[in-house]
Parts: sequence; structure tokens; C-alpha cells
Amino acid sequence: MAINIVTIIGARPQIIKAAAISRAISRVFSGQINEIIVHTGQHYDDNMSAVFFEELSIPRPQYNLNVGSASHGLQTARMIEGIEDILLKEKPDFLVLYGDTNSTLAGAIAASKIHVPVVHIEAGLRSFNKSMPEEINRVMCDHCSSLLFSPTLTGYQNLIREGFNPANKAPFSADNPKIVHCGDVMYDNSLHFSVLAEKRSNILNTHGLEENEFILSTIHRDNNTDQPDRLNAIFSALMRISSMSRKKIVLPLHPRTAKLLESNLSQALYEKLKQHKEFILIPPVSFLDMIRLEQQASMVITDSGGVQKEAYFFRKPCIILRPETEWKEIVETGAAIIGDASETLIINAYEQLMQKRTLSYPPIFGDGKAAEFICSEMLANATAKTR
Ligand code: UD1
Ligand code: UDP
Repeated sequence: MAINIVTIIGARPQIIKAAAISRAISRVFSGQINEIIVHTGQHYDDNMSAVFFEELSIPRPQYNLNVGSASHGLQTARMIEGIEDILLKEKPDFLVLYGDTNSTLAGAIAASKIHVPVVHIEAGLRSFNKSMPEEINRVMCDHCSSLLFSPTLTGYQNLIREGFNPANKAPFSADNPKIVHCGDVMYDNSLHFSVLAEKRSNILNTHGLEENEFILSTIHRDNNTDQPDRLNAIFSALMRISSMSRKKIVLPLHPRTAKLLESNLSQALYEKLKQHKEFILIPPVSFLDMIRLEQQASMVITDSGGVQKEAYFFRKPCIILRPETEWKEIVETGAAIIGDASETLIINAYEQLMQKRTLSYPPIFGDGKAAEFICSEMLANATAKTR
């Protein structure tokens, strides 16, 4: 008998992650897993949402809650209300949630209160920094979930430290959850889409970019965009790196960042940035364009969780513009260095990475089949009556 799942997406990285499970369902589990996709509307600009559906062959959402942007509480509350209605109507076997956004938290609260088992993909990751909204979201979601899939060994061990018991036996529930270390669905996606990106993306030509002649950077974390001292330090460092390396800096700007550059950079830095010939400031790009940029860049400088991992998948050195990372394996290999938002740390990180002749990229994100594994686990555990 087929099982029914409801998948919640909302923010850009969740739309991309969902492509891996939808692909596994259509290739291997069609007729066994029916997926209903719910878009919360957390991200809504075409280049933050619509662009990904066709390009990544993601089924169109059956529901869109259109919540849009708002304060954390209001945005999450609107989502909870909408998701609860859908769950009561659809009565799925599982609610599938990705990552750590407000859409994730809303799904976890709505489902667990009405006893719909939650599947959390990207479970166990921790920054150990509760001033990040994402840390709250991921901890809360993990502790409401019945099946927890961790992409890394560190994530799995974090769950055990928080009291999750790896010896639990089926039937699983929020009180008797199953934790699994299974690899990363984004690694599945990078393997799958990197060939297509090489064939289809025209982004290098569009911006006159040559392999290894540019550095790719993304910045969108609220503590970087909303705090002028941090934003100024990051852009001052990027300008120094551009002069030292004689390379272009390509910056696909998240709308949050685009809106805040003028008000939060000093006037002098903002003017310099606008006139700087080596800075290519562009709107958000499609996923195929993004991975083409990652494949061809000489280095990645980012505060994004997804982009720091993709830098690793494509064997690029990376500077992380955060005080810590939940992907700590990447830093342990030496392929990435924490630069936070300190001009000195970022420049030091750049110099260190330039001096290293060879960096190593051991396989820490699975075998590219995490999505298929997760689907087979959902199937096995729904028939074992998780509820
Ligand atoms: C959210 C997630 C973050 C994730 C990021 C991925 C939370 C708490 N944060 O952050 O974990 O890394 O998505 O990109 O869930 N905006 C637009 N158009 C859009 C979307 C957003 O203009 O389509 C602007 C709005 O001004 C909005 C701001 O960006 O207020 C922030 O959007 P929001 O979804 O609240 O947070 P993100 O910074 O995108
Ligand atoms: N991404 C994209 N276009 C862009 C910037 C990012 O397709 O202009 C992709 C990127 O390749 C990665 C995901 O979006 O897969 C990361 O999303 P984001 O940085 O917004 O969020 P985070 O991963 O930090 O939560």
C-alpha cells in the first residue's frame, strides 16, 4: 500500500533540497510514496523560488500559504495555522521537514500537536549558538521528530548527546524516535546537477568570467546584514582580497542583503563598492548557475550553510563568514576557515588558504544516495505503523 507524505518547503535552500527526495520518489518509489508539496511562501521572489521548480524538475506545490515576510513570530504563526489545516485535511503518514528555517519550525509545531509523525532531514546539526534563529528552529524540530536523518556523523553524535537513543526499536514515534546517519541530500543534488550545470549554464559568459579568475561570495545571515560593523568589516575584507588576488568578486545578492547594503555600509564604502570594477553584484542566480560558479571559482567566501558545503563538494577552499559552523568537519579538514566578520580573520584565512598547496576533501557527506535511503526508511517505518 502506498504511503502519503506532506513536504514543507519555504526558503530557497529547502526548495533545492526537496528536489532530491522528489527525484528519488519519481525514479524509484513512484506508486509507493505519494508526495504533497506545501510551499509556505517564506521566499516568494521569482529568483528565490519559482526559478528552481522547472530547472530542478520539482513538482509544483499543491498548496501555497503565501505567508511572505514578517517578524519571526507572525511569520511562523501564519505558517502553523496554514499547515495545520492541510494536515487535518490530507492526513499524511509523515510530514517531511528540511533544515532549520521558520518554515521548518512551523511544520514541526503544527504536526506534532496533532500527532502527525515528523521526518526531519538535516537533523542533529548544531552551532551551539542560540542567538541564531536557526539554532532554535533545528533543536525544536529535532525534539518533535519521529525519524531523524543526520547528514554527518557529528550531527548524529549531537543527537545522542541530547538524549536520543540509537538503540530505539520500531514502532518509532516522537517519544521513541529513530536517529540515522545517512549522508546529505545536497550531496546527491550536487552530483546530479553538476553535469547539467556544465551543459546548460551560461553564467560565465554572461559576466565574462574565466575559470579560477574569480572568487564567489554570498552574504545573507541577519547578524551580518543587520549589523553595520560586521557588514563593513566583511566588505572591507572582500575589497582587500580583490586587490591582493587581482581576481573578480562575484556576489549574487540575497534580497535581504541587497536591501541593506546602502543603509548599513558606510557611505564611503558603499560608493567605493558601486564603482569597483572587480565587484560583480548580481541578483540571486538559479541553482545551475550557482553550481557552475562554484565549480569554476578559485575560492568561496560565504555565510551560507549550503554554499560552504557546496564549496567542499566542488573542492574549493572556503572562508566562512560566521563565528562558528554546524558543518564542523569541513573546518577540521582544513578546506575551510572561520573568518567570522573580522577583517583581520578573513584576510588571515585568505592568506592561509592561498599558502596551502593541497587541500584534502575526504568523503564526509555520504554516497550520493541519501534521498533514496530516506524514502526507503519512510516506507519501512510507515508500514511498521509509526503512529
Ligand atoms: C531564511 C532562513 C535562513 C536561511 C535563508 C536562506 C529563517 C529564520 N531564516 O533567511 O535560515 O539561511 O532563509 O536563504 O527562516 N526577501 C525578499 N524576497 C524573498 C524573500 C525574502 O525580498 O523572496 C527579503 C525580505 O525583506 C525579508 C528578508 O529578505 O524580510 C528576509 O527573509 P526571511 O525569509 O525572513 O529570512 P532569510 O534571511 O531569507
Ligand atoms: N543558491 C542559489 N542561488 C544563489 C545563492 C544560493 O541557487 O544566488 C543556492 C546554493 O547553491 C545552495 C542554497 O541556495 O544550494 C543555499 O541557500 P542559502 O545560502 O540561501 O541558505 P542556507 O543554506 O544558508 O540556509
